[in-house]
Amino acid sequence: MKQKVNPYEVEGKIDYDKLIKEFGVKKITPEVLSEIQKITGELHPYLKREIFFAYRDLKKVLDEYKKGNKFFLYTGCGPSGPIHLGHISTWRFTKWLQEKFDVELWFQFTDDEKFLYKNMSYDEIQKWTYENMLDVIALGFDPKKTHFLIDTKHAGIIYPEAIKVAKKITFSSIKAAFGFTDSNNIGSIFYTAMQTVPVFLPNILRNENRPCLIPLGIDQDVHFRLSRDVVEKLGHEKPAIIHSKFMVPLTGTEGKMSSSNPGSAILMTDSPSEVKRKINKYAFSGGRDTVEEHRKLGGNVDVDVACQWLKYFEFDDEKLKKIYEDYSSGKLLSGEVKKILIDKINDFLAVHQKKRREAVKLIDKFIYKV
Ligand code: TRP
Repeated sequence: MKQKVNPYEVEGKIDYDKLIKEFGVKKITPEVLSEIQKITGELHPYLKREIFFAYRDLKKVLDEYKKGNKFFLYTGCGPSGPIHLGHISTWRFTKWLQEKFDVELWFQFTDDEKFLYKNMSYDEIQKWTYENMLDVIALGFDPKKTHFLIDTKHAGIIYPEAIKVAKKITFSSIKAAFGFTDSNNIGSIFYTAMQTVPVFLPNILRNENRPCLIPLGIDQDVHFRLSRDVVEKLGHEKPAIIHSKFMVPLTGTEGKMSSSNPGSAILMTDSPSEVKRKINKYAFSGGRDTVEEHRKLGGNVDVDVACQWLKYFEFDDEKLKKIYEDYSSGKLLSGEVKKILIDKINDFLAVHQKKRREAVKLIDKFIYKV
């Protein structure tokens, strides 16, 4: 399938170098990594493993930081279903950034977007907004430094700025960027303006002038490509962005995970036996047809989903390297790598699900008070 990457469609086997050129972003180089490490003291595994692999304007934000002008982080979630493992890699990394740089995070829940784009009722979307907030909180963000914006609830502060953005984006550029036609609903055409506002809203609310850094999955870059210049024309600074790759679906190496395709994703609420069942049943294997062949020729770590997913869960570089070596040489069998992954994910989810239950009481602390 041909590669397609925009916020509403991710298809095909993704060629990330090609995306870097098409989107006009920069690749994260060892120099950029060492700039980050100078400040943070260590590098997150997602940086070392090129899961976060590209950026816009990042150096500027780091320079400002060194001069004492802290940035704020901005990212978001479109609430239209359960959170799965594919969503959280960006947010786990965002949490690390919050901790290491000691900065504020503005987190947008785009209930308007999902209502406009999905065949779901307003009430269903509100239910998912609540459920998704619990998962975000469970990841451990600092309640004193994290502010949730819910588009329909915070419309009073977002909308006056959104119209200023919307006035400077034409219908034809939206059409070209998202492949819209005349039959798209008129709300969806406006939406990019709503997603742009948190780039500068904190500065308006606080009467400050801080740079903004947005960690995101690279499909979301499209919104900001449309609005970065607009933001500047409105008298604010363009945001810096750091882009991540997509976690491959359980079933193979094309496209991205999705909760509407049950075989492709593991949900944050899945039980240990469900995790085991899904991985054993669906995880695409890079192994050989028979054990004898596998022992002789070894497996292919690049297509083996269990091996690929371990990059997200086995943070010990030495251990991961050993697993890759042993799988490639045939010493480790597919079933054995799957077992390692199942245990890692279940350990992670046990902690997450406990924190998720506790999050119910914390929601109020996170929602921004106007
Ligand atoms: N549109 C995003 C989604 O569908 C949610 C979102 C809002 C977002 N603001 C963002 C994502 C900023 C990344 C960065 O999931």
